[in-house]
Amino acid sequence: MKYIGNKTRVIDFIEQSLKDANIDYSNKTVIDLFAGTGSVSSFFLENKSTVYSCDNMFYSICEQYRTNYYTEEPTFEELKELIDDISLDGVLEYLNNVKPKKGYFFNNYAPDGSEHRQYFSNENAMKLDAIREKISKWEKFLPYEKKCFLLGILMCAADRVSNTSGTYGAYLKIWRSMALKDLILEKPKFYKHQFNYIELDDVLNCVSKHKNVDIIYMDPPYNKRQYASNFHVLENIVVYDKQELKGKTGLREYTNQKSDYCIKNKVKKSFEELVNNMDANVLVMSYSTEGLLSEKEILEVLEKKGKTTVYRYDYRRFKTNAWTEGNTSLQELLFICKIK
Ligand SMILES: C[S@@+](CC[C@H](N)C(=O)[O-])C[C@H]1O[C@@H](n2cnc3c(N)ncnc32)[C@H](O)[C@@H]1O
Repeated sequence: MKYIGNKTRVIDFIEQSLKDANIDYSNKTVIDLFAGTGSVSSFFLENKSTVYSCDNMFYSICEQYRTNYYTEEPTFEELKELIDDISLDGVLEYLNNVKPKKGYFFNNYAPDGSEHRQYFSNENAMKLDAIREKISKWEKFLPYEKKCFLLGILMCAADRVSNTSGTYGAYLKIWRSMALKDLILEKPKFYKHQFNYIELDDVLNCVSKHKNVDIIYMDPPYNKRQYASNFHVLENIVVYDKQELKGKTGLREYTNQKSDYCIKNKVKKSFEELVNNMDANVLVMSYSTEGLLSEKEILEVLEKKGKTTVYRYDYRRFKTNAWTEGNTSLQELLFICKIK
């Protein structure tokens, strides 16, 4: 999934830095705070660690259930009275073939809908409506994890054919070629790993709940762009509370999901409070040299917990969207703080 701050491209750097710092990260208990796509959880899971991952956006939770929860294909015996083939292939084939219909997403996100936005083609918005409604009807039969897993698959399929440049701050006026392709649900890859506890929560609650862990990894947002307003379409698809959307871009209400980490006069206090509540042997934190917090401010907080080293990585900016501007040399920072 194309996601701002996705750490997939810097996983090798994180791994090498952990090795350089002599941190053993296999067979451990790890918290992945601000988990997003779950790319860092997936690294720790692959290294036989048990992971508690946390994010306050439901689309992130669904994406993590799609990619990191199951170690093999689930079957859907709960639906045996409703569909013939309860294998994952059977369920996806069934959903891929439900009759498209004009509904909430068509009206809000398609050019011929009542709001004339163009996040999705008319056909894909109608498929989205039909599939989302079917999953909604199945919800009372399915356990939470299977519901989230299916929603993650739907959301990922929709994201692939969205008419945007990566975030949902705005839709494109001209159709990109991918947006004209069919929305198709695809099976994710499965791999063997330890258990991933996936938690929809605020990071402060998460660290207050889980004490005495081996490693806490954290990857907070680093600039003013709120995730809730930049990925509102994905949230709307998975939550499906059919809110009345606002403005030209069709925003959901997101007051309760605003992050202090994107607000200049709140970030320092929230970060200090978060770190003060952490109970772990090692703290690891990703951040950017262009973040709202300076390197010095972060070091001041972490050094109070333990000896901290900063590792650096230069990389070209992610230029395909409006998230960042210009072309300065951006450095990815990794703070490693040894407590015990
Ligand atoms: C930089 S992204 C994380 C990217 C992630 N490491 C990845 O590889 O995909 C920051 C994440 O923090 C989440 N977030 C922001 N404030 C939060 C809070 N107070 N509690 C929980 N999650 C929060 C956002 O929803 C977003 O997914």
